[in-house]
Amino acid sequence: MGRIISIANQKGGVGKTTTAINLAASLAMGERSVLLVDLDPQSNLTSGIGLTEAVASKRTVYEALTSDTPLDPREIELDTQVTGLRLIPADRHLTGAEVELVGMLARESRLRPLLQQAKSRYDYIFIDTPPSLGLLTLNALVAAETILIPLNCEYFALEGLAELTSTMQRVRATLNPTLDLEGVLLTMADTRTRLGQGVAEEVRRHFGDKVYDTVIPRNVRLAEAPGHGLPAILYDVRSRGAEAYLALAREILDREAPRLPDSIL
Ligand SMILES: Nc1ncnc2c1ncn2[C@@H]1O[C@H](COP(=O)(O)OP(=O)(O)OP(=O)(O)O)[C@@H](O)[C@H]1O
Ligand SMILES: [Mg+2]
Repeated sequence: MGRIISIANQKGGVGKTTTAINLAASLAMGERSVLLVDLDPQSNLTSGIGLTEAVASKRTVYEALTSDTPLDPREIELDTQVTGLRLIPADRHLTGAEVELVGMLARESRLRPLLQQAKSRYDYIFIDTPPSLGLLTLNALVAAETILIPLNCEYFALEGLAELTSTMQRVRATLNPTLDLEGVLLTMADTRTRLGQGVAEEVRRHFGDKVYDTVIPRNVRLAEAPGHGLPAILYDVRSRGAEAYLALAREILDREAPRLPDSIL
């Protein structure tokens, strides 16, 4: 059974989408089956993986959220260029969903049944969320088992995290009691600067061993790859960015290793 992980931080531009694409592609290279879900109206995930055109005539996550009758996820999943990696895409229609959902029944729980249906076919499902704590992000937190928080190594990295934490607690108290923190990922690190190191230390003091050992460096290949519609491992596998996300995938698989005997029994 797959694990459903929301990648969330309401702060913009911290590396949520870059992490979704590259972590998912790295796990797929490790022969895991992975589903990406684009829940951001900017649809950077869909375009970053090169599928904007494939979406034009197809249904997207928008229909899944707003339709009266439940959709079968297989009707909206698309193949990507990476074997084992599939995508539930978004397009600009999703912009309206934030408003349309307000008047709907179970407005925070509309994504969950779709992913519950998909879960048995995947090892991992990652949801990329928008930079806000609105209804789309709430749907992601209700649908997910855990949340992965990317933090960029900047002075204000921890700012706004109290809001995210209290949203998590609210979701836990109501619609998703088992929602847990998957991990905290330091992104866009410039290890040469003292500021970056100071921020990393502060984040580790705050979140302890929930912070991944792997730190994603600032690397121009990671910024270029989506313009070519590719994960960094296909665009330039030797880049430091691609290597860092492969290391993160390895770290996540290693963290899971102790759980294996249970699942075998
Ligand atoms: N490690 C990195 N090194 C260099 N550039 C990066 C890195 N990670 C992300 N970027 C670039 O920084 C920008 C923001 O990253 P990204 O889109 O992943 O953030 P986001 O949190 O998804 O943003 P939003 O909140 O708008 O959805 C993008 O242009 C991306 O290509
Ligand atoms: Mg994004």
